[in-house]
Parts: sequence; structure tokens; C-alpha cells
Amino acid sequence: MGTVLPSGLALALALALALPSLALENGLARTPPMGWMSWERFRCDVDCQADPRNCISEQLFMEMADRLAEDGWRELGYEYVNIDDCWSAKQRDAAGQLAPDPKRFPSGIKALADYVHARGLKLGIYADLGVFTCGGYPGTMLEHVKQDAQTFAAWGVDMLKLDGCYSSAEEQAKGYPEMARALNATGRPIVYSCSWPAYQGGLPPKVNYTILAEICNLWRNYDDIQDSWDSVLSIVDWFFTNQDVLQPAAGPGHWNDPDMLIIGNFGLSYEQSRSQMALWTVMAAPLLMSTDLRTISPSAKEILQNRLMIQINQDPLGIQGRRIVKEKSHIEVFLRPLSQAASALVFFSRRTDMPFRYTTSLAKLHFPEDAVYEVQDVYVGKIVGALKTADNFTVVINPSGVVVWYLRPVALPLQPWHVVRQQAPGKGFHPALL
Ligand code: GLA
Repeated sequence: MGTVLPSGLALALALALALPSLALENGLARTPPMGWMSWERFRCDVDCQADPRNCISEQLFMEMADRLAEDGWRELGYEYVNIDDCWSAKQRDAAGQLAPDPKRFPSGIKALADYVHARGLKLGIYADLGVFTCGGYPGTMLEHVKQDAQTFAAWGVDMLKLDGCYSSAEEQAKGYPEMARALNATGRPIVYSCSWPAYQGGLPPKVNYTILAEICNLWRNYDDIQDSWDSVLSIVDWFFTNQDVLQPAAGPGHWNDPDMLIIGNFGLSYEQSRSQMALWTVMAAPLLMSTDLRTISPSAKEILQNRLMIQINQDPLGIQGRRIVKEKSHIEVFLRPLSQAASALVFFSRRTDMPFRYTTSLAKLHFPEDAVYEVQDVYVGKIVGALKTADNFTVVINPSGVVVWYLRPVALPLQPWHVVRQQAPGKGFHPALL
């Protein structure tokens, strides 16, 4: 007979042997991460002499942390303050460690992490698997992966975005899983955002979403967002055109990332801003704002702080939604299944003429027969009323705008989300009613 182990230990050992060694399972990002990230709005502005207020410096991140903590953001879930590119010195230090630019981050990253933590927030940082970062700062070559993970953990960092400029497909295939192991080995909980798929075209066979979900908490699939409606539309088109591949890849702990929210900047109208927020919510996307929280307008803030929208984005089931209708009239309908048999519907207009009266029914949108829903308009905030599946209804959708509904069942024989769950990859949208 072998050694007798205490039963708890034996069980733990048996489990450890049974689990695949790659599984990330760091228990983080059970819902899509929320917070603020510097890149889209503040880029690689390193000229603190000419532009002290907007340059990439500890001051900028401290000010954003203050705003997140004091202006109602943190309570809504916006908790990450994420440093993007251009934070570091142009060279590693004598010990080969990454170090912040001494002029722009005189107190160091550890002090910044302390500042952020003292306000109940978390700190994210950026690195790049390759010779250089995309902005030309020192990269993380394979031989530095372990050391950099340890540096970030020692600084008290809570999230890492690992970009992929200046590396080969082979280096990425090695380096991204290696960083996952290195982060886990530090013992510090660090959310891990991988840009790997974005560098490999975002689609199989080059991208393996099963492996990604095992090593990364979120991943950039596609191009960088820019401050324009065209950019938002190109991202939306790509994500929903490829929803058969992307939608099943998302879930608690592992999310597709269509990139930052640009609401509050210069490129989007009011309607377009509401559309970005709604479409990112349907995609179960991370809500990482890249805007100046010191000067944001009340209307942009209201969109970003919509409680019900955030509740939908953060739904604990973590099922990504799908586009379920594309009308010739340039109206599109999106459905996201939610917990407690609720759902979110987004009616989106790509029209450029005038508010469009769109008439449909829940039956046409594949909801189960004989159900009754209480409908709430997410932006208007009001209960629209009770709706039977068979009832026709009309929504008025502004050009490049949305109407967003939250539907709770009052009487329900079946849930609509089998429609999304049972979607066979590669096929059109055919609801498989149970
Ligand atoms: C890449 C990333 C962006 C940003 C820049 C920084 O383009 O996709 O999100 O991090 O690099 O240089």
C-alpha cells in the first residue's frame, strides 16, 4: 500500500493531475473588465514640456484615477487605470529590467500603483512581445518574459496588455503562453490581455480560440480603434460578420476585445456614441474608456454611466450576443441572452435619412411562442410595457443610432437564448427551438 494522504490533499493532487497544464484559471475577469486606458485619446504624447496636461506621465494617470474615484465611475465598475505604450525609458536598466521614463514617472510605477490602489482602483500596464513596442520602446523578448512578469508583479500591477509588434508568428506562439505561465507563477492576480490574435488576422486556422481562452483573459482580435464613426463601423462589421467564430469563444474569464470606447472624444455624434456603447455591450466587450475624464461632457458621461447598460454588459452568464437580423432597410437587430431568462435587444439603424419606424414582433426575432415580457428602454429608462411574443411593435431609430431594450419574462414557457447557444458554427441564423 502507498502513502496515505489526507483526503483533501489527495483530492487536490488528483485534480491537479487531471487538469490540463495550460488552463489559465486565474479566477479573474469573470465579467468583462471595465476602466480607462490611455492609448486612443492620449497616444504617445511624450512632450511634457509642450503639453504637460496630456503627455504620458504619472500625473495623467493620477488625475484619471482621481476622476474615476470621485465622479461616480468606480462604483459603477470602472476600476482599471491602464497605462498603454510609451511609459518606459528608452533602455532597460543596468539589471536588464524595464524601467519607467524617469522624467515622466519620477515616483516610479510602484508609487503609482499605490496611489491607484489607495483609491480602490487597479493599475494596468503595457508591454510588447517583440524587439520593440509598437511605439519604439523596449520590447519583451522571449528571454525577458519571466523577468518582466516578476517586475510587474513586484510593482503591484493588476492587468497586463501584451502587444505583438516586432515579433514573428513563431515567437508569439511561444511567448503568449509563456507569459501566461510567468504571470501565474508570480502568485499575483494579474488580468492578462493578449494582442496575439490581432497579429494573426483574428480568424482560424491561424488563430485558435480554444488555446486563447486557456491562456488569456481577454484578447484584441482586430484593428486599432480610431476616433471616427468609420472606425467603429469597420470594427462592428468585422466582429458580427465573424460572429460564428467569435461569439462562442467568449465567456466568464475570457473575452473578445473590440478595443476601447471612444465616447467623449471628437469623432462620434451623440447617436453614434450611444450606438458604440450598446454594440460593445451586446458583444460582452471590455468597457475600457479612452477619453479625457477631466473634461468629459455631461451627455457622454451619461451614456457611459448608464446603469442598466452596464448591468447588461456585466451579466454574470457572460454570453456574447449576436446579430440576428439584417434588413434591406439598413436596420439591424442584435440579441444578447442574459441571466434569469432576460435578454437585451439592440435595434441599430445604418440609415442616413431620418428616424426610421421599424415594425417587427418578438416572434419574428425568434422569441418563444406564448411568452410575455416586460420591456424597458435602456436609454430612456422607462418601462415600455408588457409585450406578448406575437404582438407587433414599432421602434423609432435615429440615423446611426440605436434603441436598446431590456426584456424580462413575465410568463415564460421557454428562454430565447437557446437561439444563440445552439447556433452551429458556419451556418446562418436558424433558431433551433427545443
Ligand atoms: C498597437 C495596439 C494599440 C496600442 C499601440 C501602442 O497598435 O494595437 O492598442 O497599444 O500599439 O503603440
